[in-house]
Amino acid sequence: MKDNTAEISEIKALLGDKPRKAYIRSFGCQLNVSDGEKIKGLLKKMGYGFTEDEHEADLIILNTCAVRESAEDRVFGIVGSMKKLKELKPSLIIGIAGCMTAQSHIAEKIKKSYPQVDLVLGTSAISALPRLLLEALRGAKFSADITEYDDFSEAAEQVRESSFKASVPIMFGCNNFCTYCIVPYVRGRERSRRPEDIIGEVRELVSQGYKEIMLLGQNVNSYGNDLGGECSFPQLLRELNKIEGDFWIRFMSSHPKDASKELIDAIFDCEKVAKHLHLPVQSGSSAVLDRMNRRYTMEKYLGIVDEIRRRDDDFSLTTDIIVGFPNETDEEFRATLDVIKKVRYDNIYSFIYSKRSGTKAAEMPDSISDEEKGHRMRELLEVQREVSTEHYKRFIGRTMRVLVDGVSKKKDGWLTGKSSEFIIVEFEGDSSLIGQFADIEITDAMNWAVTGHIKKG
Ligand code: 5AD
Ligand code: SF4
Repeated sequence: MKDNTAEISEIKALLGDKPRKAYIRSFGCQLNVSDGEKIKGLLKKMGYGFTEDEHEADLIILNTCAVRESAEDRVFGIVGSMKKLKELKPSLIIGIAGCMTAQSHIAEKIKKSYPQVDLVLGTSAISALPRLLLEALRGAKFSADITEYDDFSEAAEQVRESSFKASVPIMFGCNNFCTYCIVPYVRGRERSRRPEDIIGEVRELVSQGYKEIMLLGQNVNSYGNDLGGECSFPQLLRELNKIEGDFWIRFMSSHPKDASKELIDAIFDCEKVAKHLHLPVQSGSSAVLDRMNRRYTMEKYLGIVDEIRRRDDDFSLTTDIIVGFPNETDEEFRATLDVIKKVRYDNIYSFIYSKRSGTKAAEMPDSISDEEKGHRMRELLEVQREVSTEHYKRFIGRTMRVLVDGVSKKKDGWLTGKSSEFIIVEFEGDSSLIGQFADIEITDAMNWAVTGHIKKG
């Protein structure tokens, strides 16, 4: 762990008693949100408070995502508009963190075209924040650190977004090199955290009253591969399940090529592990999966689904799908629609393929027009809506245990929560239930949620 206590003290002394506010915005996946919580943890130590309004901020950090071009464009749009804020408040410090910074052409672009940016912080250099901030506070025009210190994976203090749901990264990086994906280039190779550190952190969170622990990794199934066989992911699940308390364990994401029988056994044996598996299929065509370098066939994927459904026909499955991978034929796309109908996913996260420079797929010829890709996406969403509504109907008349998330955005006086199956459940109730478990009798199903009322007695 990089020692930055001297810099933290210097910043505290420099800022004095004047309250400073930071605006931190994280884009993209939950691992990035977790990094944002660590950035906040460091800033809190330096004496910063937080604001949701960038106009009030003395420091802005955009914690970026590079998975799709649209996410990058959004960040560039926001940074562009921040030029005005900086003109109004010249002491404002603007920083860019996260996956975008790890691409050299993007880092160059930021430096060259966005002079309002004061600091750039790499994904493995979060602990360098105090030093960079100190330089900026002392008047440096631009400072950057995208070194891979890899020193921030343990015992980092965090300012958590929720008081009842916590994300716990169990590993960092990815070794898989799916041909479309930028992650292995911006997050480096897989590094697993020590099992005892993870268990200690979860135990502490549960003792603080957290009700849902989300274990995070790009591919949690390869957890422990770098620990010399000491602890696999299914073993870790079993250890965490032993922690006393009323809480759920979730995890994300699970690569189908490594989804083993041991994993399925652990899910069904551990009562605290939620009855839901996010198993990204990406495409329903084995030929496309091959071009994606996914290293499983549809046969293997459907074998895992069958094994799960054999044990529990209701088990909830969700997935990620990429539409319009280079040269995806109509037949290949139809194979994806078939899989959706066959598996009956409870939810799908679908994305139009986005070319990422530096990846293998970026070099592949692609004759499919954007219009056609948009058309396919709409068709896929239509099929998914039908499948979800039909599939959600199985819950009508049953009682679902729900962790209450907050107030419903759809109806006044209603609350929203998620069931163990990761299904949105909406019902009438008092806001004092937020952060608690509640039993809900389901009366209706829509394509995005089920609704019901609190079980009496
Ligand atoms: N274009 C579109 N979607 C992508 N994903 C990853 N890379 C790309 C890309 N280049 C999707 C995959 C992955 C999810 C997190 O993002 O479906 O599972
Ligand atoms: Fe990207 Fe594939 Fe790694 Fe997931 S498993 S982060 S899609 S390379």
